[in-house]
Amino acid sequence: MTDFASRVVRWQRTHGRNSLPWQNTRDPYRVWLSEIMLQQTQVATVLDYYARFLARFPDVAALAAAGLDDVLALWSGLGYYSRARNLHRCAQEVVALHGGRFPRSAATLQTLPGIGRSTAAAIASFCFGERVAILDGNVKRVLTRALGFGDDLAVAANERALWDRATQLLPTDDLANTMPRYTQGLMDLGATVCLARNPTCLLCPVQPLCAARREGAPERYPVKTRKLKRTAQSLWLLRARTADGAVWLHKRPTPGVWAGLFCLPVFDDHAQLVASVPERWRDRLRDAPAFVHVLTHKDLHLHPMLLDLPSQQVLSDDGAWFDAAQWPQLGLPAPIRKLLAED
Ligand code: ADE
Repeated sequence: MTDFASRVVRWQRTHGRNSLPWQNTRDPYRVWLSEIMLQQTQVATVLDYYARFLARFPDVAALAAAGLDDVLALWSGLGYYSRARNLHRCAQEVVALHGGRFPRSAATLQTLPGIGRSTAAAIASFCFGERVAILDGNVKRVLTRALGFGDDLAVAANERALWDRATQLLPTDDLANTMPRYTQGLMDLGATVCLARNPTCLLCPVQPLCAARREGAPERYPVKTRKLKRTAQSLWLLRARTADGAVWLHKRPTPGVWAGLFCLPVFDDHAQLVASVPERWRDRLRDAPAFVHVLTHKDLHLHPMLLDLPSQQVLSDDGAWFDAAQWPQLGLPAPIRKLLAED
């Protein structure tokens, strides 16, 4: 066993996280669900969603049999909704193509929707003790520092080389026990010790082996040149409502922002929004305060317009009126939910 792997495994036992609700199980359904939720969301946020999701869909068959709307509604607020759509498709493929059992190898897991190389490896190592490397953002930081790997990860060949180095470092003995611990240990090191800023190297079990520590500047790693190009987009939202508190919602088309979720009608500009309102109601339109919602790749500048109507008029052929009591059951984008909750 490499010195590196032994140190990570030993440290995880005493200093890692060992009582999260998706640990102490080898049920791939539970591990898979947690890994998908944790891909872009912090542990503290995931906890409640995870419990609610499992209560509603206790196994892969229950999830596969559900309607996508129910899945999106339970996901509502977690963001990155393609994860929820892939989750649902993945459950259906496990049932249709694998007899309702998750495949037991990372290579086959990776053929399923929403499961990339690192997620497949996490599931296979946690549940089946397979000797495969994970390499998410946190683990890239841990390994590039430990190895002094300074090549630019924006270059695909360099990233492939890091995958190979990650594989060489894996445990070699007693894999059923060491692989789950090692995988969790790397995640825990990245989340609690080997932080992007001000890592606490004095607490790190691999400090004596760490090249970046020896060089005295761990924050120089990882090296990645290509910066995310952020964009901005303005959207106009029609917030039609009646005195009894109902709002007009429709389901967003796929693909596009918030695909498949219920939403206020969205328009690219002010004129299109106005044109969508029947002429006799147009003088009732009023501007509401604009706000910004930040997504990974873009800032959405949202411009709501209020339309107070005397009764529940049909505004288009693809929407419906919903009472406030119905909103919690719908998959609504987080900023729309917040806007509707404000008054
Ligand atoms: N992030 C991704 N996978 C995780 C796990 N198993 N535990 C804690 N955080 C994680």
